[in-house]
Amino acid sequence: MKTLIKNGTLVTAEKTFAADILIEGEKIARIGTHLPVEDAEIVDAAGKRILPGGVDPHVHLDLPMFGTVSSDDHYTGTKAAAFGGTTTVIDFVSLAPNPSHTGRGAGVRESVAAWLQKAEKSAVDYSAHMNLTRFDEKIAAEIPALRGMGITTLKVFTAYNGRLRIDDGSIFKTLRIARDNGMLVLLHAENGDVIDILTAEALKAGYHTPEWHAKTRPAWGAVESALRAFALAATADAPLYLVHMNVAGEVDMLRYARERGVKAMGETCPQYLFFTEDDLRRPDGAKWVCSPPVRTTADNARLWEGLADGAIQTIGTDHCPFFYDGSNPILYEGKDIAIPGKELGRDDFTKIPNGLPGVQDRLPVLWTAGVGSGKITAQQFVALNSANPAKIFGLYPRKGALLPGSDADIVIWDPERKVEYGVGLSHQRTDYNLYEGWKLTGFPEKVFLRGQLIVDGREWLGKPGGGKFIERAPGIIL
Ligand code: URP
Ligand code: ZN
Ligand code: ZN
Repeated sequence: MKTLIKNGTLVTAEKTFAADILIEGEKIARIGTHLPVEDAEIVDAAGKRILPGGVDPHVHLDLPMFGTVSSDDHYTGTKAAAFGGTTTVIDFVSLAPNPSHTGRGAGVRESVAAWLQKAEKSAVDYSAHMNLTRFDEKIAAEIPALRGMGITTLKVFTAYNGRLRIDDGSIFKTLRIARDNGMLVLLHAENGDVIDILTAEALKAGYHTPEWHAKTRPAWGAVESALRAFALAATADAPLYLVHMNVAGEVDMLRYARERGVKAMGETCPQYLFFTEDDLRRPDGAKWVCSPPVRTTADNARLWEGLADGAIQTIGTDHCPFFYDGSNPILYEGKDIAIPGKELGRDDFTKIPNGLPGVQDRLPVLWTAGVGSGKITAQQFVALNSANPAKIFGLYPRKGALLPGSDADIVIWDPERKVEYGVGLSHQRTDYNLYEGWKLTGFPEKVFLRGQLIVDGREWLGKPGGGKFIERAPGIIL
């Protein structure tokens, strides 16, 4: 099957230019003007921008937490992604808490197999990072095998003591293993010890409202653990990618490390560009509870600066939605759905499930608030949301590019379309949207996944299992 997208303006990370795109099967076959094609279906894109499909390097789908589960599974979350113009997502494999019952391995293979089974209903293409939440000799020995499974990235944590955190020595050893195997370590930077002390004190003093989530997770913890990990990476001569950057000081630490030749890279998320602790003080503040927490307007501004001047390489979403009121069903694909959510922490901020919806919102919100406002250019928008995550995570040029031979993951973007955004336009399976009532200009019109039209205006043409697991290669250090 052939499709010719005619008369559009292509936007890549490098340039903006008028051209037609010929899709043959799952791939982009040719790009040019006056392409001599007789047997193709024609899509007229006059007045539209043609973008490579978004690559979201950080989502959590079907993630168990605090006795419930994040409300988007691999189908509903990837359907929402598609409606927002994102055609590839990278989720996380949870490492099974106990070694394999056979006693032979550390459980890495079993954990990947279990995740692959859950993820196969994805409607867009997908991969995963490995959450390295235990470390011992058996695990160290199994990490290189992940390469053969197409998983080339490992996330480590300096917080969530007793649950997800591994100690600094184990992070250092992980960095060396990653270096020797062409893999990349991702860091969740907060200070777990300080968080535990402040949380216990806050609870003892009777503080229970959502703002205490932020007050017990101080910004300095993010700054010092980012620098600590960059120091470990420099010593190990290994690359390190800082996830969900939320604090101005992290931008400074990232700059400091990069200026000294450390292979340091970073990602921020829309919630850290727009929201602050003031949102946690609203009556419905639980909607904004995520880890790390939202901070201050000064942090918002410095993160924007980091995006604009190239200090920060990517924007992910950390999509991890929960219902605001999980006792009240919503209608989803004709069925009533209610999943326990933020209400679990009504009387205790430590019991509010951590996470926010965002996988669909990322591109539409950033087009208006970033490109529309002149904070970033359209090319930077493509670099941050598609090309750079694809490069760093070993997907480029198959993903994140408009090139002959790339997967035909293409978004026809209407830069003039005005919408009042919110839960009414969102396919994220939750009962709220952080951008409720925002007036946006620019919205995805058609979305192609490997040559298949999966979103046409408000119509859903995709399906569960329409996405493919993409085996990733080692990435590029940007
Ligand atoms: O609140 C969040 N972000 N939940 C997901 C876990 C994480 O650390 O990214
Ligand atoms: Zn994290
Ligand atoms: Zn996350």
